[in-house]
Amino acid sequence: MRILGIETSCDETGAAVIEGTDINQPVKLLSNSLATSLASHAITGGIIPENAAREQIKFIIPVIKESIQKAGLNFKRPEIDAIAVTYGPGLIGSLLVGVETAKTLSMLWNIPIIPVNHLYGHIYANWITTDNIEHKVNSKNDKKPSALSLKPNTWIEFPALALVVSGGHTDLVLIKNHGELIVLGGTRDDAAGEAFDKIGRLLSLPYPAGPLISKLADKGDPKTYNLPRPMWDSKDYDFSFSGLKTSVLNLIKKNNWVFDNHLNVDKANEYGNSKLIVNLCASVQEAIIDVLVFKTMKAVTEFEVKSLILGGGVAANTALREEFQNRSSVKGVNLYVPSVKLCTDNGAMIASAGFYNRNFKSWAEVTADPELYY
Ligand code: KG4
Ligand code: ZN
Repeated sequence: MRILGIETSCDETGAAVIEGTDINQPVKLLSNSLATSLASHAITGGIIPENAAREQIKFIIPVIKESIQKAGLNFKRPEIDAIAVTYGPGLIGSLLVGVETAKTLSMLWNIPIIPVNHLYGHIYANWITTDNIEHKVNSKNDKKPSALSLKPNTWIEFPALALVVSGGHTDLVLIKNHGELIVLGGTRDDAAGEAFDKIGRLLSLPYPAGPLISKLADKGDPKTYNLPRPMWDSKDYDFSFSGLKTSVLNLIKKNNWVFDNHLNVDKANEYGNSKLIVNLCASVQEAIIDVLVFKTMKAVTEFEVKSLILGGGVAANTALREEFQNRSSVKGVNLYVPSVKLCTDNGAMIASAGFYNRNFKSWAEVTADPELYY
């Protein structure tokens, strides 16, 4: 089965074609095209929904066309079996662009739609394989974490635990089987990615600050500032990151630190020379990672899962990936992390989620739902 995946929930326009045969095996990625309006949001310090939707309209057809052609198919009558499209959660204007385009193509090509929850997409980014996509797996037998190419005998086993860490979500989800998901906990306020972005804003870093904080943190000492680990001791699996942001704000005020307003990536890279910035970034990053890793590993133990899965933009963070590799290796649980490209929003993860959860609909039955949860 060949599926075209379309993702337009926020500022990324993604389209990809995947091919799969067996739900016990990974799907193959035939093409993966992406356009982003991120640069325009860096200047405004965050996403203005109206702008994001207008950019989606510009990109949607060229991106879909490219993904179909790169998969070696004919755009006018492609040999695909279904269109998987993100129908929520997300920004309504952006979602509508993808959903309405998918409906038109579905009618035109006479193939069904599979409406996909964006959060499932981040999880199912782990079920994709190509020769050039690296998938990090810790085998139970490995003493040291290693990067292995996927073989069927190291494939994702249930029950699995997924940590979805993105700009909008920080969720721990127990997966008993395809489509059998139980949410163990989620964020009560800011998501982990949102914490990176909002704290970055306090430091006058351009949006999205996550990748930049991660880069600057490499040069800093995480022990410099003693920041809180919110909800570390709570008995549930919920998270909260807004208190961490307030602590950083209080620290800035107390010390009368002033950061130049350089909302531009080139200027922001100069921050690497500031001891204050790199140490703050390292301390913030460690506080966020500590909580994520602690709570996730607690759930791994309690639910005796066979696989641990990461997904979402924050899963692209190198320090987070390394910490999870170390901890899951010690624990003896197989860890799956998508390649960096498949952590952030993309069409491939939507196509993959569609393959394993084939909820076929006719075009008339699909509507966008910005508030959708699991
Ligand atoms: O999954 P995603 O692309 O979009 C949402 O569904 O939200 O995630 C975007 C989020 C942003 O908050 C961004 O700052 C964060 O992922 N992010 C990172 C890194 N790369 C992206 N956070 C920390 N370290 C990174 N390397
Ligand atoms: Zn996302």
